[in-house]
Amino acid sequence: MATILGIESSCDETAAALVTSERAILAQHIASQDEVHRPYGGVVPEIAARAHAERLAPLIEATLANAGCTLADVDAIAATAGPGLIGGVMVGLVTGKALAMASGKPLIAINHLEGHALSPRLADATLVFPYALLLVSGGHCQILRVDGVGRYRRMATTIDDALGEAFDKTAKILGLGYPGGPKVEKLAQAGDARAVPLPRPLLGSHEPHFSFAGLKSAVLRAKESGQYREEDLAASFQQAAIDCVIDRLQRALAGMGDVTALVVAGGVAANRPMREALERLAQTHGLPFTAPPLPLCTDNAAMIAWAGAERYTQGQSDPLDFAARPRWPLDPDAEPVRGAGVKA
Ligand code: KG4
Ligand code: ZN
Repeated sequence: MATILGIESSCDETAAALVTSERAILAQHIASQDEVHRPYGGVVPEIAARAHAERLAPLIEATLANAGCTLADVDAIAATAGPGLIGGVMVGLVTGKALAMASGKPLIAINHLEGHALSPRLADATLVFPYALLLVSGGHCQILRVDGVGRYRRMATTIDDALGEAFDKTAKILGLGYPGGPKVEKLAQAGDARAVPLPRPLLGSHEPHFSFAGLKSAVLRAKESGQYREEDLAASFQQAAIDCVIDRLQRALAGMGDVTALVVAGGVAANRPMREALERLAQTHGLPFTAPPLPLCTDNAAMIAWAGAERYTQGQSDPLDFAARPRWPLDPDAEPVRGAGVKA
């Protein structure tokens, strides 16, 4: 059994975790920066990097102490090396390198997206490759076929906004504050999803990708028209977003070949109506549907440690001069799409 220390700092969560190759999370700590960024209505990269630098070392110490461990008990150090906000990524990666150097333990540089992609296997020992993954968060919006560790086929990505970003922007339009996804979902409960006619960008399109910018603009125009109730705007937006996701997934599943399960990861997986729609879709395809528990869906270090454990088990490690990568596609062979790659 191996014990891996994971470090995550690619966006606005500073996190450390100790995870074993047997799927035990020995300890983990997350410091959210929501409060720090709230006045700006979104993540400010420079402020995020500074906050990571202040918080990471004590967080790692607390994680080791909680598990009753020292670095001597750790087999490898896994740190997010991209993609993400480069200042924050560098804080985490450099810290990981320093710990690796000081302890003589190997460094494993983790792609943050791989952390999300493999996290369902940390939660569920029965989940085997290949599976279909919908990865939806504030910065990511992709459909992937996960064939194995380091083996990903990207079936679709967004040509403009990520899904969580669309939720956050809608929340901003409705004056709900940041982060907006949960607030939109709550308001939508009291609304009528058919009240506001909104577009479903790319619905039924031959292209595989997502687009949410037009939907967000339509919400803005509808809000400015003064004709609609806020809760109806929220409910109608949420339904349009779900319709788009289901349509795009249907298309991707048709071209993906056999998979063992439909899996969702990323912060938007918290959205209950979305989960219910995904569950129904999986049923119609005769697939089991799984989502990691919420704390593993949103950004965290346990998923980074787990990806490290999967790689460590395969005998992999990285050199100490591994460079941080602000952009780092999971599937390097995927064709670039117009307008895409705005965020990781
Ligand atoms: O995975 P995550 O914590 O961080 C990123 O890597 O982005 O995802 C955060 C995103 C935010 O955009 C947030 O608004 C969205 O996930 N989110 C939700 C819900 N909870 C979080 N979106 C819709 N409904 C929710 N309940
Ligand atoms: Zn993420």
